[in-house]
Amino acid sequence: MDAFRQWAFDRRDPTHSQRVYDWWSRHDRVYAAFVTAFLLGRTGELRDRTIAALSLAPGDTVLDVGCGPGSNFERLADAVGPTGTVVGVDASPGMVERARARGEQFDCNIDVVRADTERLPVANERVDGVCATLSLSAMGDTETVVAGLSDVSRPGGRIAVLDVRSFQTAPLRWLNPLIEGVSAAVTNWYPDAPIMQTVDETFAAVSSETFHGGTVYVVTGSKLD
Ligand SMILES: C[S@@+](CC[C@H](N)C(=O)[O-])C[C@H]1O[C@@H](n2cnc3c(N)ncnc32)[C@H](O)[C@@H]1O
Repeated sequence: MDAFRQWAFDRRDPTHSQRVYDWWSRHDRVYAAFVTAFLLGRTGELRDRTIAALSLAPGDTVLDVGCGPGSNFERLADAVGPTGTVVGVDASPGMVERARARGEQFDCNIDVVRADTERLPVANERVDGVCATLSLSAMGDTETVVAGLSDVSRPGGRIAVLDVRSFQTAPLRWLNPLIEGVSAAVTNWYPDAPIMQTVDETFAAVSSETFHGGTVYVVTGSKLD
């Protein structure tokens, strides 16, 4: 099983990521079912918590990083209202197409840009909030990505990350080689991405909550004024 996991880990890179997420973008029901399974049926509640932690106000600009098919757009549009702006960034052309179509359904400026999060197409100190749901763990270089998210945040702006990590304790931990290998192959997952630690080192007033025995977490913080 360790050999399988290593085989899958060795295949992770931006090209693999775009290939798998373009596939997911064409199978949105399977994608929704996969996310529901990953979050053990609490998807809506966990997205609500994440977006509430951003404390967005009408007129704000919020960045949805690795926005996928626009799964957060309805909630984000509700939070910033018709005078606010949601900027979705994703590297997968298929996901960008889906997200643009979904964005048209809401009464809010929703701008979806195809870009790699390591080179964000957003001016420094531009956004009031950064939302990252199930996306940072699919990106290779956590430190570079989180530093970029801090750069584009205005002083006082908030970040909220919802993500998933491997089982923390036995006996479920024994399943990790299988789950990590399958997830790396089908989602470009980096289970060891130091997301909580990097948010803690980069942002201020960081707090986190964990769910499902520590496998799911929401970590939030603010950029120093
Ligand atoms: C598991 S999906 C999560 C989508 C969405 N945030 C959600 O909650 O359903 C991960 C997304 O991150 C995107 N992604 C992965 N690496 C990326 C990168 N380096 N830059 C931009 N987007 C990336 C993928 O294309 C994919 O749409």
